[in-house]
Amino acid sequence: AFRLSSSCFFHSSSSSLRILRSRADQPLRRALSIPHHRIEAMASGQHAPISESAAWADLKQHVKTIEGTHLRNLMQDNNRCEELIKEYDGIVVDLSRQRVIHDTVDKLLNLAEEAKLKEKIDQMFDGVHINETENRSVLHAALRAPRDEVINCDGHNVVPAVWDVLDKIDAFSDQIRSGSWLGSTGKPLTDVVAIGIGGSFLGPLFVHTAMQTEPGCAQAAKGRRLRFLANVDPIDVARALLDLNQETTLVVIVSKTFTTAETMLNARTVRTWITSALGVEAVSKHMVAVSTNLKLVKEFGIDPANAFGFWDWVGGRYSVCSAVGVLPLALQYGFSHVKKFLQGAWSIDDHFRSAPLESNLPVLLGLMSVWNVSFLGCPARAILPYCQALAKLAPHIQQVSMESNGKGVSLDGVPLPFGTGEIDFGEPGTNGQHSFYQLIHQGRVIPCDFIGIIKSQQSVYLKGEQVSNHDELMCNFFAQADALAYGKTREELVAEKVPEALIPHKMFSGNRQSLSILLPNLTPYTVGQLLALYEHRVAVQGWIWGINSFDQWGVELGKSLAGKVRTQMNAARTKTQPLSGFNYSTTTLLTRYLQ
Ligand code: F6P
Repeated sequence: AFRLSSSCFFHSSSSSLRILRSRADQPLRRALSIPHHRIEAMASGQHAPISESAAWADLKQHVKTIEGTHLRNLMQDNNRCEELIKEYDGIVVDLSRQRVIHDTVDKLLNLAEEAKLKEKIDQMFDGVHINETENRSVLHAALRAPRDEVINCDGHNVVPAVWDVLDKIDAFSDQIRSGSWLGSTGKPLTDVVAIGIGGSFLGPLFVHTAMQTEPGCAQAAKGRRLRFLANVDPIDVARALLDLNQETTLVVIVSKTFTTAETMLNARTVRTWITSALGVEAVSKHMVAVSTNLKLVKEFGIDPANAFGFWDWVGGRYSVCSAVGVLPLALQYGFSHVKKFLQGAWSIDDHFRSAPLESNLPVLLGLMSVWNVSFLGCPARAILPYCQALAKLAPHIQQVSMESNGKGVSLDGVPLPFGTGEIDFGEPGTNGQHSFYQLIHQGRVIPCDFIGIIKSQQSVYLKGEQVSNHDELMCNFFAQADALAYGKTREELVAEKVPEALIPHKMFSGNRQSLSILLPNLTPYTVGQLLALYEHRVAVQGWIWGINSFDQWGVELGKSLAGKVRTQMNAARTKTQPLSGFNYSTTTLLTRYLQ
């Protein structure tokens, strides 16, 4: 409470700020857990919302210029298009179908300067506690750093500790896969059930889905099964355990906190499934854990030797490159494939921290999203991979983006005068085309990310067909972006002799922005690149908006109310206490449920 009011206090009282900046008040500063750099920032007046800056006002003004353009015309300017097509380490990002001209990009870069974007990126890689409300560093990039890299957190290099865990996963996954680690009845463990939710599930599922059909990975996974159990719904338990045999199953409990209600109930349920068949001693051979809370892992009954740690500087939704994702994926595909995934992510990390902003892919992607959300009034974004193996990209990015940037106050706790975050959704093409694309073409304006792959993981070329299956898929990838940009005019429809009554229905306004990301192939390496591209893009958006993209207080209220319902449900069931304290609606529905 003091921190919240203190931000208003700083606004009005520069003498108070002077006191806090003075050496004498270090204990007070510590007690308030306000990092030094924040106090300096407040002193320099940096806490005013970005919307009050000249750069923001300039962009607001610039919207009028853009409103006078149409992508149909903008796309004729080859110099403009050339400027907006960027490339790094095999990835092509085409921003030419964004509603921008050269000036727009300049003005967005001014906004980035105003928001001190470069400093924020540096602070992240320097281990500054930029997640201020939790007083933590944000160092998921360190999870994929090469062995010889130095990344400091609170004065010590974290990379050796990262590699200790990676080496342990390498050895353990090899033991399981080679059959030198056997289950309690002497059988090899061919199946893995990973129990976790949110960031302890969505990232690993995304990468697993992307690797599953890649020939090298598929070969490495022969004879093995990887299942995920996330929802506390008993249906999900049944689905995850279907046809599995306790004797050949390894259970991985994945939870950063090791307190998440759903995960812990599922963990107890599956532990009972194991022990009822194999006895209590089987736990040491059939259950391992991934967590930052090794004390609770031990209390659950898992040998600390069978626990894989990570650190509080890894946010849940940014944890797929920690043991959270690396362990289940290494068990399924072998560590060497997963290492390539980490290398791909690092390639983008390195680019992000060192490339100039004007050619920095995550920065440009983030700026385009800010432009679309905050200036062109488009609060949603469609993520449309033309690749079935990327089917779980959108659900993962939903958490990365919406949990990070769906905030209402600035870093200083001041309510923001503009909306942040965006509504992410998506499906692979061409499936989405037969579902929600109608709305995107003729209904609301939804900026789209089209993601295409040059060389498919699989090839099907039927004799007698003009193009391969993959070519057919990619024809749609290329066509959709232009259909959105150009649209279809009345004149074109008249020339096609479309009956007058149908013309309004068949017209497409066009001028609908999209961007295209073209990857050379879909391998563990490029999956890592794609992941890091989106992770950093989301951070860029958050830094521009001036929010904390690394906390998630908004998920707490529902959780605590569920706790209240749980207590009362239990009391009502055991007839120790009737329901009380709920509103009419909840009491009625709860009573019906209990009856
Ligand atoms: O409820 C949201 C959340 O805290 C996410 O941020 C996190 O990824 C998920 O729950 C799971 O948390 P844990 O890994 O601690 O079980």
